[in-house]
Amino acid sequence: MRILVIGANGQLGSDLVQVLREQSSTHQVIPLTHAELEVTDLPQVQQVLAQSQPDVVVNTAAYHKVDEVESYPERAFAVNAIAPLNLARLCREQGIALLFLSTDYVFGGDAQRTTPYTEKDCPAPLNVYGTSKLAGEKLIQATWAKHWIVRTSGLYGVRGASGKGGNFVELMLRLAREGKDIRVVDDQRLAPTYTRELAKGLANLIENAPYGLYHLTCSGDCSWYEFALKIFELSNLHPSLQPTTSAEFKTAARRPSYSVLANQAIREAGIAPLKAWQAALADYLAERQKVQSSKGEER
Ligand SMILES: NC(=O)c1ccc[n+]([C@@H]2O[C@H](COP(=O)([O-])OP(=O)(O)OC[C@H]3O[C@@H](n4cnc5c(N)ncnc54)[C@H](OP(=O)(O)O)[C@@H]3O)[C@@H](O)[C@H]2O)c1
Repeated sequence: MRILVIGANGQLGSDLVQVLREQSSTHQVIPLTHAELEVTDLPQVQQVLAQSQPDVVVNTAAYHKVDEVESYPERAFAVNAIAPLNLARLCREQGIALLFLSTDYVFGGDAQRTTPYTEKDCPAPLNVYGTSKLAGEKLIQATWAKHWIVRTSGLYGVRGASGKGGNFVELMLRLAREGKDIRVVDDQRLAPTYTRELAKGLANLIENAPYGLYHLTCSGDCSWYEFALKIFELSNLHPSLQPTTSAEFKTAARRPSYSVLANQAIREAGIAPLKAWQAALADYLAERQKVQSSKGEER
């Protein structure tokens, strides 16, 4: 299969390119970084698809700085909804399957929720980011049947350790190194997901699953505070860490108090679930250490 990956320099994009290349010698992977393709540039996207003739397009590109996005809804809808719509149209013209990454932040409107959301639950986003991603989902669903829409959550990957974006794990490790007092919200629950684990799941999905809507995250769930505790435990660090609340830790965007996703459709499709979040975190910490040692960096 010829698989074109948009956003190939990102946390998920870089792991997906690597996993697809490792898992199957029959896949031809075409990675496109942001510098090589602006997903909102329709003529450019058109040209790239015509030239590369892929069987599958994976769109990992997004405008997902959740708080910043609140001030730039037009940009959010351009990247997260209109660009996916145009991709779906072009994919339909050429018979290409489209995989779109979406988010647990399409949920949250149900403040009483305490059980994992299935693919059948009705979304109710709380912020512009979640709304723009939900719009992207709907526009793809209305345009082209050969799609997989994959909602995931709390991503961290090795590219975030070295790229400009960063991720929550790296933020915690940096604050601990700097000897800061750390406060982390304990009233938002999710399933943090290592992008390499997710990439393996996506490769599986592309190879084996029918088209449709999927929730795909590491197994189990925790609050951000519990996630931070585990990061420090596995890293043998003992910073000053206190739980806080969303009311105390004010942000521009509202976030769900509970956005754990039940990975039901994946199970029904016979696809292996992703690892428990604790085991995946241990893998990540080992991998970042390896990468940094090979670069001669000390973190
Ligand atoms: N991060 C999370 O916690 C999370 C949670 C749930 C769902 N998701 C979804 O999962 C996907 C992957 O997330 P990630 O954490 O891997 O993100 P990431 O590390 O920021 O990677 C996204 C990549 O897309 C590129 N990109 C951004 N805007 C683009 C544009 N307009 N045209 C072309 N490329 C563009 C970025 O390049 P630059 O950095 O150079 O702009 C980056 O290389 C996204 O669709 C996101 O919405 C993420």
